[in-house]
Amino acid sequence: MSKIKIGLFGFGVVGQGIYEVVRKAKNANAEIVKICVRDPEKPRKIQADKRLFTTSVEEILDSPNINLVVEVINDPDAAYDIVKRSMLRGIPVVSGSKTMLARHLPELIELQKTRHVALLYDASSCGSIPVIRNLEEYYDNDLLLEVKGILNGSSNYILSRVFDHAEPYADALAQAQALGFAESDPSFDIEGYDSLFKLVIITVHALGTYVAPERIFTYGISTIHDSDIRYAREKGVKIKLVAQVVKVSDEHFTMFVMPEFVTPDKYIYSVDDEYNGVVIRGECYDRQFMFGKGAGSLPTASSILSDIMARLHDYRYEYKKMNYVQKPGYTTDITLKVYVRYKETDIHNILHFDKIREQYIGEESNYVIGDILLSELMDKRSQLSGRDVFLANIPIFFLNRDR
Ligand SMILES: NC(=O)c1ccc[n+]([C@@H]2O[C@H](COP(=O)([O-])OP(=O)(O)OC[C@H]3O[C@@H](n4cnc5c(N)ncnc54)[C@H](OP(=O)(O)O)[C@@H]3O)[C@@H](O)[C@H]2O)c1
Repeated sequence: MSKIKIGLFGFGVVGQGIYEVVRKAKNANAEIVKICVRDPEKPRKIQADKRLFTTSVEEILDSPNINLVVEVINDPDAAYDIVKRSMLRGIPVVSGSKTMLARHLPELIELQKTRHVALLYDASSCGSIPVIRNLEEYYDNDLLLEVKGILNGSSNYILSRVFDHAEPYADALAQAQALGFAESDPSFDIEGYDSLFKLVIITVHALGTYVAPERIFTYGISTIHDSDIRYAREKGVKIKLVAQVVKVSDEHFTMFVMPEFVTPDKYIYSVDDEYNGVVIRGECYDRQFMFGKGAGSLPTASSILSDIMARLHDYRYEYKKMNYVQKPGYTTDITLKVYVRYKETDIHNILHFDKIREQYIGEESNYVIGDILLSELMDKRSQLSGRDVFLANIPIFFLNRDR
């Protein structure tokens, strides 16, 4: 590709970061020639030439001058429309919209094939950490066993403040919002959906299979209570919001997003504040660990820049693993060990445990630790959303390998 002429959609946190890094990156041979936003009059931190702005999608898509669309808007439906229309016109796209991608990847993968047009999105999963391209290119074999990590900076920041600085949860959340780590509606981060959407995208590149978000058990940190934190401290563990995809046999893999009791010997134990960390486990190489900033203006923009520069060499994902003849299938028919804290909710009437390992009835709250099918948790998900209930995974996979 000769000079990259970018039509940029979105000039918010990420969009302005992209404007800065593209200007700095002399070797990128790239230039932003148009910027589409909702409100061109809005005051912004970065001052760009007013003539660059438009509110018309067509002005970018119809321009013969533009040979790459970079989409970083905060409206998933509009993002889907823009990305699809660009691809149908044969214009390659770089996108950061995890919600849109997690919902529409199968169709967008098909479009890439039929229209011979690239769609790159490393920034959508873990900001500056190059997870997607690594999984796509380097881990292209059958040895991959697990991809697991802290994929959401806001919830991790809150949990760090609560654990390391003994701050009340509400104060930590308010601080995360003030620092711009959490959205004004923080439920996307703290209920686990941000991690879920990233996990869906990661799994496509890790194991070659798309699993729709609604088929995946997702539980966040919004109901965490002082008693959970006390319990974790007594046991010498931290509670982290962890997303994981795990090969449980040659035939099957499973995936879920849940708070987890993390012991100090795990890499993610020391991933604190707004940082992200991803562990990749393989048959022959044990564990590898990637750590870095998972969000924020410039970190995310750096990953977008890397995708922009990859287009200089016509790079595109090949989705080789999707065509493998023997691929493990998704299952929720696996047993997990979980901690469930409750008070009013009649947990024993709701959840069927295969085995109860520990129980405690207290003044303030009760808890039970037991073995339970992931499918049982999925089936009962809506009944586990009471303010008095909190659930955490106690890891059981690969324990024999980690000692
Ligand atoms: N923030 C992060 O750290 C981060 C990290 C990784 C991925 N992402 C993803 O990147 C995307 C952007 O995030 P952000 O934090 O930059 O959001 P943001 O600060 O809220 O900015 C969103 C931008 O999108 C524009 N916009 C919204 N709807 C539009 C439409 N229909 N047409 C044209 N422009 C439209 C807005 O225009 P106005 O300015 O005129 O309102 C604004 O400039 C999201 O998908 C997010 O999930 C963000």
